[in-house]
Amino acid sequence: MLEVNGLRVSYGGIQAVRGITFHVNEGEMVALIGANGAGKSSTLRALSRLLDPAGGSVRYRGKELLALPPHRLVGEGIALVPEGRGVFPRMSSLENLRMGAYARNNKTEIEGDLEQVLGHFPRLKERAQQLAGTLSGGEQQMLAIGRALMSKPRLLLLDEPSMGLAPIMVQKIFEVIRAVASAGMTILLVEQNAKLALEVSQRGYVMESGEITLTDESKKLLTDPKVRACYLGE
Ligand SMILES: Nc1ncnc2c1ncn2[C@@H]1O[C@H](COP(=O)(O)OP(=O)(O)OP(=O)(O)O)[C@@H](O)[C@H]1O
Ligand SMILES: [Mg+2]
Repeated sequence: MLEVNGLRVSYGGIQAVRGITFHVNEGEMVALIGANGAGKSSTLRALSRLLDPAGGSVRYRGKELLALPPHRLVGEGIALVPEGRGVFPRMSSLENLRMGAYARNNKTEIEGDLEQVLGHFPRLKERAQQLAGTLSGGEQQMLAIGRALMSKPRLLLLDEPSMGLAPIMVQKIFEVIRAVASAGMTILLVEQNAKLALEVSQRGYVMESGEITLTDESKKLLTDPKVRACYLGE
């Protein structure tokens, strides 16, 4: 579904992503793990066209994504849940969710998906009228994921959904991520919480200083001595 080749991202003189190559198969959940500053978010920002990469190619369902204008991505079925969530703070939870569906026009389908998202996150149903900016961090993360799901994506890009959240919240959010994945959605999951990411994904890539240094099935990475030492704190 997604084939990234030699992707490079630079910020002025800083090379944040140094020609990485990886792929995500349809229906797969793939984890991209790495320490602070490894270039994970920069990779997702390039894939979702929030920034122009310095080089490389990104083929998505047979098309060159980098040739498309950024506003076409939602229509192509790509949704990003950015680091820091990016909810619209002065809109209610419900309005945020509806915004996620702005490019769609089948009202019946949208209402059905809204019910499904509120079913995944009952907390958001209780907080439907509350301004998103006043939600707790965990609730905002739920909202950001819910809003992305409302665009009915084929490919969901998640940037650190567990960041800064209490274990119980992380558990709830990952239950939904698992459910959505089992229903067939393709997911690229960026996480600093390597253990969690490798437990839920099928394959993983390890990123270090802008390069991919290791890749394997997630269950093998979980037992890899280097991964255990550097990313699992063992
Ligand atoms: N807008 C920017 N301008 C300049 N440098 C940037 C910018 N965004 C990121 N960088 C640099 O690019 C490198 C990679 O950053 P990136 O945010 O992609 O890392 P990350 O792997 O997502 O890290 P984290 O786990 O902390 O979120 C870092 O050295 C960072 O300082
Ligand atoms: Mg990041």
